[in-house]
Amino acid sequence: MASSTIYALLLTVSLSVSLVSPGTVIEDLNNLKPPPDFNSTIAENCQTNPFHRYCNATPDDLHEVFKSTIVASHLCNVSKNPNCVETFSKIDLHNQRNAAKLYLSFTFFWKYCPLSITTIDLSNNSIQGNFPSDIFYCSQIQALDLRLNGLSGDVPIQNFSTLSNLTFLNLSYNYFSEVKFQNEQFFSRFNSSSFISSGILPDHKEFKMKAVFLLFGFPVLVIVMVTGLGWLCFWRPDFLPRFLRRKHKFTPSMLRAATDGFSRKNLVERTEEVSIYNGQLRDGNEVRIEMYKETISRKNHKKFVQECKILVQLSHKNLIQVMGWCQNRRMRAVVTEWIDGDHVETWLSVTAPPWNKRRKVIRGVIEAIYYLHEEWPEITCDLKTTSILICEDGEPVLSRFKVDAHKSSTRKIFKLGVFILEMVTNKRAHEDFERGEASFVEWVRINHPDNLEGVIDMRMKKTTHVIDQATEAIALGLMCTNLPGAEQPSWEQIYI
Ligand SMILES: *[C@@H]1O[C@H](CO)[C@@H](O)[C@H](O)[C@H]1NC(C)=O
Ligand SMILES: *[C@@H]1O[C@H](CO)[C@@H](O)[C@H](O)[C@H]1NC(C)=O
Ligand SMILES: *[C@@H]1O[C@H](CO)[C@@H](O)[C@H](O)[C@H]1NC(C)=O
Ligand SMILES: *[C@@H]1O[C@H](CO)[C@@H](O)[C@H](O)[C@H]1NC(C)=O
Ligand SMILES: *[C@@H]1O[C@H](CO)[C@@H](O)[C@H](O)[C@H]1NC(C)=O
Ligand SMILES: *[C@@H]1O[C@H](CO)[C@@H](O)[C@H](O)[C@H]1NC(C)=O
Ligand SMILES: *[C@@H]1O[C@H](CO)[C@@H](O)[C@H](O)[C@H]1NC(C)=O
Repeated sequence: MASSTIYALLLTVSLSVSLVSPGTVIEDLNNLKPPPDFNSTIAENCQTNPFHRYCNATPDDLHEVFKSTIVASHLCNVSKNPNCVETFSKIDLHNQRNAAKLYLSFTFFWKYCPLSITTIDLSNNSIQGNFPSDIFYCSQIQALDLRLNGLSGDVPIQNFSTLSNLTFLNLSYNYFSEVKFQNEQFFSRFNSSSFISSGILPDHKEFKMKAVFLLFGFPVLVIVMVTGLGWLCFWRPDFLPRFLRRKHKFTPSMLRAATDGFSRKNLVERTEEVSIYNGQLRDGNEVRIEMYKETISRKNHKKFVQECKILVQLSHKNLIQVMGWCQNRRMRAVVTEWIDGDHVETWLSVTAPPWNKRRKVIRGVIEAIYYLHEEWPEITCDLKTTSILICEDGEPVLSRFKVDAHKSSTRKIFKLGVFILEMVTNKRAHEDFERGEASFVEWVRINHPDNLEGVIDMRMKKTTHVIDQATEAIALGLMCTNLPGAEQPSWEQIYI
């Protein structure tokens, strides 16, 4: 009781001064000088109550102490304390933006914060920046209200331990940083209603949303993504990034999309066992799709896949590049590169190519067959003029293979012989002769060597050079078609 009276005495001194010349706080601070007895009044006060904050001030600080008494008298009045300044118990700057900012800027006032103050209310003032730490000088306060401001940054939680009598705190509606390490002591003193939307505690609504998302949304999202990915893998792997796709694997949906739903205009050829489509993959590549009609057993499906796995490894300029396969219960297809060009059969009968072009084709076919013989003896190819395509550059490309370990080398050489003879004569062993290949070969053999003029395709320009070479080719063809038991040339002999 005694101390507050003495303190009030000090304030009365300055207050009476300021009342003499009313004006703004700033003007008073600039114009007013301490009265002559100021030093001694303070000294007397401190003798009576050494707890006053100004009692530790050095003589040099006395001017600041004086200024703080002026600010205190103004602030007490602005805060509408009754009996200013005898009972200066509350700093009430609720909803007073300019005043709040002004008084917060007077650090010297807070340093000598009057001991009578128990409540500080600075709410709803749009105060920006960090927590106003000068408030901690008023360590005796019991209530602090900073709600509805724009404060940000860390709350100096450690310093709240100096406010040992603080029982009311409201920091709601500010933008403080979240307190990462929950300070037990601090949060046991004040419950969450002191920190509503202050940023200090994690937002429960947001937290709930996150929890709900993590609990339900996230698994659902994962399921949707996995399902989507699975669907793509199963139906349209061409929409997946390359590293997720299975190499060489085509799905029925992919082929349907590539061929406009297996449309008639994409159908290029149809035989009893196979339909051949032209298609365009999603990456723009044109492909040839051979669809097999025959339905086969499960076991043979497995065999089909194994064969395809071998075929995709073939790599030769005269063999069509097998890109992959498609296989399910209802569909079986092999996908290869697209070759723009005619069958040898059409090429022979329509364009009547000169000898040097035929020679190139024979050479290419022999190279391809030799490559298969050396590297892939288990693969046979359907050596027919209808299954060999002629590229734009005149190179032949073989397009039908089978994995078939049982075909004998003799049979392969025989087929090659027939092909060579067909190339020279432009006859179709299967169509032009009653007993097929056998009577065709017999026919050539009868005319060899005396009547070759009649055997060699009439439409070719027959120079001596051409006749010489064609004769050699016929000789080779006949050697290859020697009946089993008679002597056939070896692969090496043919290749040279
Ligand atoms: C009060 O103290 C200050 C600082 O020591 C000194 O400058 C000033 O002269 C003193 N005033 C009186 C009236 O003693
Ligand atoms: C105190 O406030 C009243 C109005 O509330 C005003 O008339 C008076 O001038 C003020 N006194 C000081 C010293 O500012
Ligand atoms: C805060 O101040 C604004 C004006 O700045 C006023 O409209 C609003 O009612 C005040 N809110 C409270 C809770 O005092
Ligand atoms: C808190 O209040 C008690 C009793 O009123 C007082 O003794 C003590 O000094 C106060 N603490 C502070 C930090 O002012
Ligand atoms: C706040 O606490 C820190 C240490 O935790 C101290 O250095 C600083 O002076 C304190 N601030 C006030 C205004 O008390
Ligand atoms: C928080 O504490 C105050 C008293 O300090 C009490 O009235 C209020 O119900 C408490 N709120 C919660 C959510 O615990
Ligand atoms: C803090 O202020 C908010 C907003 O005005 C209010 O909802 C809340 O109850 C207050 N908390 C306390 C502890 O007074």
